[in-house]
Amino acid sequence: AASPGPSLAPLAFEPVPPNRDDAVRVPDGYRQRVLIRWGDPVLPGAPEFDHERQTAAAQRQQFGYNNDYLTVVPLPDPERADDHGRRGLLVVNHEYTNEELIFRRYDDKAPTAAQIGVAMAAHGMSVVELERVGDTGEWRLVRSGALPYNRRITVETPLEFTGPAAGSALLRTAADPDGRRVLGTLSNCSGGVTPWGTVLSGEENFDHYFVGGDEAPAAAKPALDRYGFHTKRRHPPGSRHWDTADERFDLAQHPNEANRFGWIVELDPYDSESVPRKRTALGRFKHEGATIVVAGDGRVVAYLGDDERFEYLYKFVSEERLQTGDSADDRRHNRGLLDRGTLYAAEFGFTSAGEIDGAGALPDDGAFNGSGRWLPLAQGELSMIDGMALDEVLVHTRLAADRAGATPLDRPEDVAIHPRDHRVYVSLSNNDYRGAVGRPAADEANPRHDNKHGHVLELIETGGDPAADTFAWSLPIVCGDPDDPATYFAGFDKTSVSPISCPDNLTFDADGNLWISTDGNAVTGPGGDPYNDGLFAVPVDGPERGRVRQFLSVPIGAEQASAYLTPDQRTALVSVQHPGEVGGATADRPASTWPDGDLARPAVVVVWRAGDGLLGR
Ligand code: FEO
Ligand code: CA
Ligand code: CA
Ligand code: CA
Repeated sequence: AASPGPSLAPLAFEPVPPNRDDAVRVPDGYRQRVLIRWGDPVLPGAPEFDHERQTAAAQRQQFGYNNDYLTVVPLPDPERADDHGRRGLLVVNHEYTNEELIFRRYDDKAPTAAQIGVAMAAHGMSVVELERVGDTGEWRLVRSGALPYNRRITVETPLEFTGPAAGSALLRTAADPDGRRVLGTLSNCSGGVTPWGTVLSGEENFDHYFVGGDEAPAAAKPALDRYGFHTKRRHPPGSRHWDTADERFDLAQHPNEANRFGWIVELDPYDSESVPRKRTALGRFKHEGATIVVAGDGRVVAYLGDDERFEYLYKFVSEERLQTGDSADDRRHNRGLLDRGTLYAAEFGFTSAGEIDGAGALPDDGAFNGSGRWLPLAQGELSMIDGMALDEVLVHTRLAADRAGATPLDRPEDVAIHPRDHRVYVSLSNNDYRGAVGRPAADEANPRHDNKHGHVLELIETGGDPAADTFAWSLPIVCGDPDDPATYFAGFDKTSVSPISCPDNLTFDADGNLWISTDGNAVTGPGGDPYNDGLFAVPVDGPERGRVRQFLSVPIGAEQASAYLTPDQRTALVSVQHPGEVGGATADRPASTWPDGDLARPAVVVVWRAGDGLLGR
């Protein structure tokens, strides 16, 4: 049978060697260009970036800081209505700001109101119209015309809560006594796309923005502690002081404001007037992203990581089924799918539990593997946790999963679904506390103590059904320098794989090769300095399963935050986050001057193949 997309051909590119260059490096035969960088105009009429005179008003109309997740949704070509391969909307989130790299004079004990305003406006999301350049694999911004889709979402943009916890007493504040409307989205990390054309984005490290937890009511404290809110001094080192600009970030005055972040946000990029939604049925934790797959019976499944050491993997299964038509009724129906269903946390079982010593040696049966089950936390309108009401389960989901007995993992980050058979891949980024005194020891799913390099989990739902409540799992890749015996590349010859460390965002190409973006490379070079992060491709089937090859590297201090591969496989868009984020570096003492040779600026880069070749082939 013919399979959609390009034919299955082995990856064939010369890997980019590990390096510490202050540049984006791609294999021979590939081209690259910066598509958009922090401060570039997004809204029609937005001012050009002027670093010395940056204002919140300008920033609200310009591309935000620290682009993280990105995707492209198609737009029809006005001249060729059936051609969705020439125009699109780039949807990006902006996770956080590096004030020390943004401002020439920045005192983290006393930032100015103007600085706080710029930082707030640099968070959130952007929607930007793109077009293909001729018939090449290059894409560029559309800079003229009405730009009806272009949009910025910031900390001031109204969003609404939907699903079972909307209106809960836990979400009500002085500014929002109904608990249904919240300003802004924060700490957006990874994301996903839905079959109905919306984009999902996960609110991750939202605790950093709040102070005053030590003066919050006693009843709020267990959950504040469990989510890592600062509770000791009012302004800890590195605090953004946002409470001085907007008192809702002071938990002593507004303890419930904390509960209004940590959700999956759903954005309709095709309607710039639409109100984005925080979907409470998907629970609240340090959401990495949401990866959607449709089960055989039409139910919609979202896989969800909680990115912190010893946190859990979750999934949501909708109650209703996807309607595949395109009527207004179908669209309305589908837009409610993420509001009602069952939320689960994963419990892992082991085949070699007694043999795991924390040093990374494979157990006697030759595999880190086992079975597992999905533990229901909430089902429709019902809490599945004794002693917790439904809204408590959804707002304090970590506490619910603790009680259910979920398995603590080494930082569950992004999830990708194999395009043909729905195998599930999860990045477990790293966990330097694994095996530390008073912390959980290594187990078969998290097999190394002081896990600096992370690993990749492969999970196969029973019967291949994404809605199943049990699964089998294994670890195909245990990351690190292949010279390190405590690494594993699905049994592939280690002398011909690239070093890889700290897997984060994941995506598949149409052939079923997994593309891995890394965050925090801990493999060091000759001088003891870590190599730069990058983008790696690896087959997960056939004789080259486990052959990791580096496709791209990003500048010094940058995270290769995410990649989007176009369906025609001619283009990759990559998100270069926080270039120059190195301890002690500042705007005036930069560690990176990428991309323009002066101020380091987070940016999205477009990578394409010279000629009309396919990426990676
Ligand atoms: Fe923002 Fe989980 O990386
Ligand atoms: Ca991430
Ligand atoms: Ca085993
Ligand atoms: Ca990360």
